[in-house]
Amino acid sequence: MPSLIFPDDFLWGVATSAFQLEGSPYADWTSWDAILSEKPEVTSHYTLYKEDLALLKELGVNAYRFSLEWSRIQPRQNVWEHSALSHYQEIIDILLDNHIQPVVTLHHFTHPLWFIKKYPWHEEASIEHFMRYIEKILTELKGVRYWITFNEPYVLLLGGYLEGCMPPGLRNADLAIKALRNILTCHSMAYEKIHERYPDAMVSVAHNMAALAPWKRWNPMDRLLSRVAKHFYNHSLLNAFLTGKLTIKFPFRKALGIDVPIKDKLDFFGVNYYTRIHIRFNPFKKMGLELRHRDIGGYGLTDMGWEVHPYGLEKVLRYASRLKVPLIITENGIATRDDQKKIKFMKRHVDALERSLEKGIDVRGYFYWSLIDNYEWLQGLDARFGLYRVDFNTLKRRPTNAAAYYSYLIRSRS
Ligand code: FCB
Repeated sequence: MPSLIFPDDFLWGVATSAFQLEGSPYADWTSWDAILSEKPEVTSHYTLYKEDLALLKELGVNAYRFSLEWSRIQPRQNVWEHSALSHYQEIIDILLDNHIQPVVTLHHFTHPLWFIKKYPWHEEASIEHFMRYIEKILTELKGVRYWITFNEPYVLLLGGYLEGCMPPGLRNADLAIKALRNILTCHSMAYEKIHERYPDAMVSVAHNMAALAPWKRWNPMDRLLSRVAKHFYNHSLLNAFLTGKLTIKFPFRKALGIDVPIKDKLDFFGVNYYTRIHIRFNPFKKMGLELRHRDIGGYGLTDMGWEVHPYGLEKVLRYASRLKVPLIITENGIATRDDQKKIKFMKRHVDALERSLEKGIDVRGYFYWSLIDNYEWLQGLDARFGLYRVDFNTLKRRPTNAAAYYSYLIRSRS
C-alpha cells in the first residue's frame, strides 16, 4: 500500500561528489592523499558518466545530488575550461530528460590548486575568486533549481584549519574563524546571486550533524563536553541562520560571538547524517577531548568503525526543524561490503525518517550516499558506500542487493 505520509513530490535520490568519483588533475586533494597517485581517475566517472546516470533510472530515483568540480572548470586562475562546463550541462540535461531533479553542490571540499595556494579561505580575496566561479556557473549552466553552496562547511573548517588533515592543512583557530566568516559570506552572496537569476531556486548548505553523547552519563565532565560539542557541531550554524550571529561556547570560558551575514539565507536545510559519537574528558588528549564510536544500541559498527544509530536521525531532524524551512536529508549511508547490513541500515533510517514525518517534521527528501563505490576522503577505496559495487581494476559496476531494496523502498513509499 502506498504511504500516505510521504508527500507526492518527495525527493528520493542518491548523492555523490565529483572529486570522489572522478578525481581531477587540478585539485588540491590530488596531491594531498598518496592513494590518488595510484588511481587518479578513481572510478573514471568523468568518462563513464552516461553508464552511471543510467543506473539512476534503474534505481527509480527522482533526484540526484552531485557536485561540480571547480578545479576542472577553472584549472588556472585565468582559464575557464568550456569542455568541463558543457560536460556538467550534459549531465543536467540527461537528468532533466529523465525527469530526475538535479541537486547541484557548488563546493564539495576540493579547490583548484591555484586557489588554495594563493587565496585560501582565511584571506579576504577568497571571496572574490569564489564568487567569480559562482557567476560563471550561473551564466553557463541552465536548468537547475536545487543548489547546495557548501558541503559540510564545519568539516572543511575542522579538517582544513583545526586538525590540519585537509587542505590547506592549517592548525590555527584565529584563521579558522576568518575562514568561516569568508565561507559563510560566500554562501550569503551566492544565495543572492542564485535568486537574482532563478527567483524560485531552492538554496542551502549541507550540514553534517551527528548524534553526540557523553561517554559516561554519570561523569559531569563527559556531560559538559558533550553539551559543548553538540552546541558547536550541530547547533551553532543552524542558530546563525536564524539570528545572523554564530556563538561558540567553551567550558569554563566566555562564549565567542561572530557576526555572519546568513540570517534567513536558506530555502531548505540540507542535513548529512551518519552516526553517533561518544565524548569523554581525557586530559592527555588535545583540548581534553576524546571521541569514540561504540556499539551501544546493538546495530553494529560500519567498516569505517562508525556506530549505526538510526534514532539519532530523528533527533537531528527535530532540532533542525527549528529553522522552519523544509529539511532534506542530503546524505545518509553506510560503508560496508555486507549487503544485508546495508539494507538494514537503509530501512532503519528510512523508518526513522517516516517517524519524523509522522511527528509533523517537514522533510522533503532523502539522498542515499552513494550511487557507486568511490574514493573516501583520507580512507581510500575500501569504504564501500555504493549501491553499486565498483571493481577498481576493471571499473565494472555491479548492483548490490541494497540497490534493489532501495528501488523497492521508493516504490512502496511513493
Ligand atoms: C560526508 C561527506 C561525503 C562522504 C561521506 C561518507 O561527510 O560529505 O563526501 O565522504 O561523508
